[in-house]
Amino acid sequence: METALATTLHKRQVIFLAMLLFFWGAGSEAIRYSVPEETESGYLVANLAEDLGLRVGELATRGARIHYKGNKQLLQLDVKTGNLLLHEKLDREGLCGATEPCVLHFQLLLENPVQFFQGDLQLTDINDHSPEFLEEEMLLKIPESAQPGTVFPLKIAQDFDVGSNTVQNYTISPNSHFHVVTHNRGDGRKYPELVLDKALDREDQPEFSLTLMALDGGVPPSSGTAIILVEVVDINDNAPEFLQSLYEVQIPENSPLNSLVAVVSARDLDAGTYGSVIYALFQGNAFTEPFVIDGRTGEIHLKRTLDFEVTRYYNVEISATDGGGLSGKCTVAIEVLDVNDNAPELTMSTLSRSIPENSPETVVAIFSVSDADSGNNGKMVCSIPDKLPFVLKPTFMNFYTLVTESPLDRETSAEYNITITVTDLGTPRLKTQHNITVQVSDVNDNAPTFTQTSYTLWVPENNSPALYIGTISATDRDSGTNAQVTYSLLPPPPPPPRDPHPGFASLVSINADTGQLFALRALDYETLRAFEFRVGAADRGSPALSSEALVRVRVLDANDNAPFVLYPPHNASAPCTELLPRAADAGYLLTKVVAVDADAGQNAWLSYQLLKATEPGLFSVWAHNGEVRTARPLGERDAPRHRLLLLVRDNGEPPLSASVTLHVLLVDGFSQPYLPLPGAAPERVPADPLTVHLVVALASVSSLFLFSVLLFVALRLCRRSGPAALGRGSAPESPFPGPLGDDSGTGTLSHSYRYEVCLTGGPGTNEFKFLKPLFPNLPPQAFGEETEANAIVRNSFGFQ
Ligand SMILES: *[C@@H]1O[C@H](CO)[C@@H](O)[C@H](O)[C@H]1NC(C)=O
Ligand SMILES: *[C@@H]1O[C@H](CO)[C@@H](O)[C@H](O)[C@H]1NC(C)=O
Ligand SMILES: *[C@@H]1O[C@H](CO)[C@@H](O)[C@H](O)[C@H]1NC(C)=O
Ligand SMILES: *[C@@H]1O[C@H](CO)[C@@H](O)[C@H](O)[C@H]1NC(C)=O
Repeated sequence: METALATTLHKRQVIFLAMLLFFWGAGSEAIRYSVPEETESGYLVANLAEDLGLRVGELATRGARIHYKGNKQLLQLDVKTGNLLLHEKLDREGLCGATEPCVLHFQLLLENPVQFFQGDLQLTDINDHSPEFLEEEMLLKIPESAQPGTVFPLKIAQDFDVGSNTVQNYTISPNSHFHVVTHNRGDGRKYPELVLDKALDREDQPEFSLTLMALDGGVPPSSGTAIILVEVVDINDNAPEFLQSLYEVQIPENSPLNSLVAVVSARDLDAGTYGSVIYALFQGNAFTEPFVIDGRTGEIHLKRTLDFEVTRYYNVEISATDGGGLSGKCTVAIEVLDVNDNAPELTMSTLSRSIPENSPETVVAIFSVSDADSGNNGKMVCSIPDKLPFVLKPTFMNFYTLVTESPLDRETSAEYNITITVTDLGTPRLKTQHNITVQVSDVNDNAPTFTQTSYTLWVPENNSPALYIGTISATDRDSGTNAQVTYSLLPPPPPPPRDPHPGFASLVSINADTGQLFALRALDYETLRAFEFRVGAADRGSPALSSEALVRVRVLDANDNAPFVLYPPHNASAPCTELLPRAADAGYLLTKVVAVDADAGQNAWLSYQLLKATEPGLFSVWAHNGEVRTARPLGERDAPRHRLLLLVRDNGEPPLSASVTLHVLLVDGFSQPYLPLPGAAPERVPADPLTVHLVVALASVSSLFLFSVLLFVALRLCRRSGPAALGRGSAPESPFPGPLGDDSGTGTLSHSYRYEVCLTGGPGTNEFKFLKPLFPNLPPQAFGEETEANAIVRNSFGFQ
């Protein structure tokens, strides 16, 4: 209805509203015009002259003018035409504000006669203002507990227009929770209210931003907006809730203190203190639990070190409490992981520190091993170094025995250092070592051993009694008394009964402790050149072991015997006389002086020398074989008897000598056949004296032997045919050599046999006396190597 009115006013037509009264006084009827606000200046409002019934010229002549309160010039009167024009653009809101209708009163003043006319100019509203909110933003706090249907008043918007041009309706931006209703106030103004359609949940949407729009009734309508910020106010409607009700964590047992075990987190949908959560161990014994929880962050740290071997699982209950006292709970299952932090342990149960050698499988030690870890960390391997004669045997559970693998030999190794190593299979591997020392005790299993199987000792003859002659020695590989060696002389094998021998019981003695051998009395090379005996070495073990060795003692020769002349025998009852035929040529072998020396070697090497002769120059003596030959043919003038003095000397140091006298008788008619064979004579002397001597000696002996045989045969023949036939021609120029043996190797006839060879000088007793070999001083057994061996067999010794 009001809108319709406004529309009418807008028409640019002067609406003649009221009665046009022509009062000549102040109380006359007012003329009324209406004009829309904001009309341009110069706008013809009305023709006043016409409306007042005046003539056109009359206004000018009567000095008509418009009077307006406050001397403001709103209207302008064209006195010539009587048109009333708008002097300026008029703003209704500025002139009247909210007052409706907005009427401006003016007066038309005329003079001659004075006449007043009352006029009203009504300004009609146009929609030239939009609704406007004084605050662009409105904050609305609504607790989330607010029930649907709850109404929240909102601030209104202003619109300076009036009537239908002012705010007519409020709308709100589309949303899920609110709508707005517009109410009429008593004064006709509209005000909005926010109505909650649906329960709020701060946790779902803590705030809303709504746009409130105010619409006026203009055509088209103008609008103004404001923002409604709806803040949903929290109430403690949510208990803290853990993200997981069960946390499962694993932690190695040797984790350092303060290491982070787990982080729990609880969510409280509430805000503020209702939503802030404090964590704590729920029913946890703070003294026993190895964990602490940070109440603010929910981090669980380690307070004490964990030991898998003590506790493997922990179930820790954690509570979270918000500021309103609501709480939630969760469980942290903590599994302690085993770490190989325990080295194996070895417990020795039995240990023998000393085991006898040669014993079969012997238990050295019994021990057990253990490891506090589990799994592979607790599995163990036990070992000892290779190459030891011991083995480890698993016996029972974790028990092992260490036994000898084979009989031990103390002499090879008297001590074993055994390192028993126990290693677990964890990562890293841990090991334990245990060292044991095992001594191998001695058993008397080694006999003393002589350093040589036989000893040869040399003793000069004529030694002083108790002469040290040498040492024998034996070692024993055992130890202690098992290795203490005592020496002794062993009895010889029983002698053959047919030849009991006095023995050499007192020849040697032995020091039982040192093995030193002493000759007990003076030895004589010529009597005993060598002897053997057995020595024994025994240890003091139980039973004692012993061994024996052969000791061979050789006596060294000294020049203690002078040469002994065998032929001619110097103490024969009748002196021997050599016969020399006068017809003999130079070089005729008269005889041969035979001498022996009981010594050996150089000491028995004899040389012959003519010392004195009745007729020097007639005879010569060969130095090496003692042959006496004529130096020249004999003459008639030569005396029939000669006497020669010969010296026999050995080569010892100092030399010893003997002399012999030869009697020579020159005879006639000595038959030629008895002369020695020319070939038997030594021919020449080689350069080497030793070889020469040997050759000469052998040759002469051989020839003499041959000659003797021939002579013997001849004598037999002669006796058979008559002794006279032999006559005086028998010439035993050479004695028979003894058994040929040369053990000294010096090339000299050394074995002394003494033959008493004598040609009876008396007529009628022409006969050889052929005597048994005899040797005045020396026992025959002492001669030669074979007798030496016999001596060993037969002789007996004194024993220590
Ligand atoms: C106000 O506006 C709403 C929505 O725009 C509309 O439904 C309602 O009819 C309007 N009220 C008036 C009085 O124009
Ligand atoms: C055993 O150990 C001891 C002491 O360590 C040492 O004196 C000895 O020589 C060792 N024995 C062997 C056979 O290694
Ligand atoms: C055991 O012996 C070995 C070598 O023989 C040595 O290296 C180790 O240190 C010893 N161990 C002990 C505990 O004596
Ligand atoms: C010659 O002397 C030796 C000892 O020199 C003696 O045994 C022997 O009987 C003696 N002979 C004669 C015939 O006197």
